[in-house]
Amino acid sequence: MKLPTAVTIVIFGGSGDLAHRKLLPALYNLHVDHLLPPKVAVVGVGRKEMSDDDYRAFAKDGVTQFSRRPIDEAAWETFAGTLYFVNMSLDDERGFATLGARLDSVEHAGGLTGDRIYYLAIPPALFAPTVKQLARSRLVARASARPEPFARIIVEKPIGRDLESARVINDGIAEVFDEQQIYRIDHYLGKETVQNVLVLRFANSIFEPLMNQRHVDHVQITVAEEEGVGTRAGYYEQAGALRDMVQNHLLQLLALIAMEPPHSLAANVVRDEKLEVLQALRPIEPAAADAAIVRGQYTGYLKEAGVKPDSRTETFVALRIFIDNWRWAGVPFFLRTGKKLAKRASEIAVQLKNVPPILFNTNPADPLTPDVLSIRIQPDEGFSFEINSKVPGPHVNIDPVKMDFQYKAEFRGSSPEAYERLLLDVMMGDPTLFMRRDAVETAWRWVMPILERWDAESQTPLAAYPDGSWGPAEADTLIEASGRHWRKL
Ligand code: BG6
Repeated sequence: MKLPTAVTIVIFGGSGDLAHRKLLPALYNLHVDHLLPPKVAVVGVGRKEMSDDDYRAFAKDGVTQFSRRPIDEAAWETFAGTLYFVNMSLDDERGFATLGARLDSVEHAGGLTGDRIYYLAIPPALFAPTVKQLARSRLVARASARPEPFARIIVEKPIGRDLESARVINDGIAEVFDEQQIYRIDHYLGKETVQNVLVLRFANSIFEPLMNQRHVDHVQITVAEEEGVGTRAGYYEQAGALRDMVQNHLLQLLALIAMEPPHSLAANVVRDEKLEVLQALRPIEPAAADAAIVRGQYTGYLKEAGVKPDSRTETFVALRIFIDNWRWAGVPFFLRTGKKLAKRASEIAVQLKNVPPILFNTNPADPLTPDVLSIRIQPDEGFSFEINSKVPGPHVNIDPVKMDFQYKAEFRGSSPEAYERLLLDVMMGDPTLFMRRDAVETAWRWVMPILERWDAESQTPLAAYPDGSWGPAEADTLIEASGRHWRKL
């Protein structure tokens, strides 16, 4: 897989929030690290009236505020020269002709090859119409019909709000692009710590033999956010935590920690193995739902701007999930995610079974602490292995100790942002870290019975939890019913 000699990146929604906070800073950092192809043009497309210079100022503001490293004036100047802006409305067919002409002239002037990446940083309702217009204006072709110059498309989440709408979006895009040209982003997959899950599992001999029902008691996956809904109520009211976080990010983390070793690192081999996990998730039947899922809402949510005063949108979900395959039979996976929780902390914790009550673990009233492998995704990136040790002294007192690895202590410099890695992968044509259509739809298929139940039964419990807490008490009951406890993060 190698970088092309030139690429044009067209960002639909180029003057929007995602471009400002994430995409332009990511491209800037790739530029600073000399990771971009030798020739690049970044063309923002949006409804705002902006000149190229206005767009450069907009980008500079984003980079200044959100880049992981401070702006360097010399590097900025060269990067700024690659930025352009085209003002158009996506429902205007003539706009696409103008865009085409502008892309041609930018590419011609810069000696670019016409290899293009289209980034859909726009609302999902506009995905299919935009793609259709691109085809109608002859700006793209199927890779199977015309492999060069390449045209690739990046699609942001949410891909639908249920299985049906996801299929409609996927069908719309498939009318124009082959699956191999489509890069569906789940930015969690671009995080360094998430990529490290496979390395930890398959580049070490110590962990993998333990990763099965013989040795693992249960797994906990937490993605906790301190922030509330902020300014995104318009979207969030239609989504809620299950759609916003579980269907994508949390199920992807689950797939990575639970998957079988792929026989190679080829994109589709890795993605096939992840898909297997999603396919093996035991459906949560309506009758079992109350014991397996807790939905909550933080107390201040109804007062947030844009939130309906009687909103029943969940801002927290906890679930108990089983994977019905040989490796994980009977091992519960506890997942929780929420907004306005006590702190920002995301972790995957694999808790091993306790030792038998022989020699050391003999007092049932005071059992030993089970061993835990904890992978900290953010913010304190790293992992630790929590094991038991004898406390020095004349008696056999045993306490848990922690073998801890921290990225910031071991590796110098800041880790690249998820979007840097993901954008680079699209340029190189590596889809490993992107969501294949079947995975997106399988995840929706699993989530659907839960959504349907919530929609049909307006009385499904919605537990309130105080802002800044660890979620509703019901979430504790969910895990404690089986004698386990959420980890303190
Ligand atoms: C997004 C969700 O996908 O992920 C947001 O839409 C959430 O609601 C965000 O806040 C969390 O991402 P991160 O990288 O800050 O953990």
